[in-house]
Amino acid sequence: MKHKEMMYMTPLPVRIWHWLNAFGIVTLCITGIQIRFPDYINIFGAYKAAIRLHNTAGVVVSISYMLWLVYYLIVARSLIKLYVPTVKDLTSGIFRQAYFYFLAYFVGQPNPHHSTPESKFNPMQKAAYLVIMFILLPLVIASGVLLMYVAPLRELLMLLGGIKILVGTHFLLACCFTAFLFVHIYLATLGHTPLAHFKPMWNGWEEETVEDDAPEKTTEITKPEIGISSTEKQG
Ligand code: HEM
Repeated sequence: MKHKEMMYMTPLPVRIWHWLNAFGIVTLCITGIQIRFPDYINIFGAYKAAIRLHNTAGVVVSISYMLWLVYYLIVARSLIKLYVPTVKDLTSGIFRQAYFYFLAYFVGQPNPHHSTPESKFNPMQKAAYLVIMFILLPLVIASGVLLMYVAPLRELLMLLGGIKILVGTHFLLACCFTAFLFVHIYLATLGHTPLAHFKPMWNGWEEETVEDDAPEKTTEITKPEIGISSTEKQG
């Protein structure tokens, strides 16, 4: 027998970070298109207006990234546990999950990964979020800061290969984010209902199906934004 259980999956600081970040990245992509192709695309009127908005969104994304880092690293101390795939994740879990997304999902088989607050992400999510949050986001922020302060950071810029290399890298990173956005939003709709994964990103709570006869296991339900941590037994 199975029963439904509500789990507190996404603490408030993570939700604030996520939506600031999502709004910022979408704004950066749209304004970036106008800045890159000003002769063909004009969404925000003057070219300067697009640059101002792009720079502001860049600052919002950079500050919210610090919020994410400080929260997971210092407050929750769960960054490594949640985001870094284990050897088992890389050798078998990732393939099992890919099989689910590409085939099993379409014939109604269940998701092989069951989220808990201590293991929120399946192996594919871990790998994707690790690359996005530890490599691509820091790189796009760093290249953006260099482009915002070309004159004062000129020497560092020359050391890195010059402005053309930097602009090209920044553009390629932006393409990666655009591609990620489409895949990320599509995969997020593959819960037991299309909105099942969106709800915890909005109010923190997710409904999970749990086996009645599963071995007794302890799920920690934490509310770090108010500093309370309680432990609830399941099974
Ligand atoms: C309109 C844009 C976006 C939407 C609608 C969206 C939606 C979602 C949803 C529903 C989740 C929860 C399910 C899951 O973990 O997959 C999620 C989690 C996540 N998203 Fe997004 N997302 C957007 C943009 C972004 C962007 C731009 C990034 C990174 C640059 C991002 C990074 C993440 C990460 C790292 C998580 C896991 C957060 C955590 O629980 O620690 N998302 N997103």
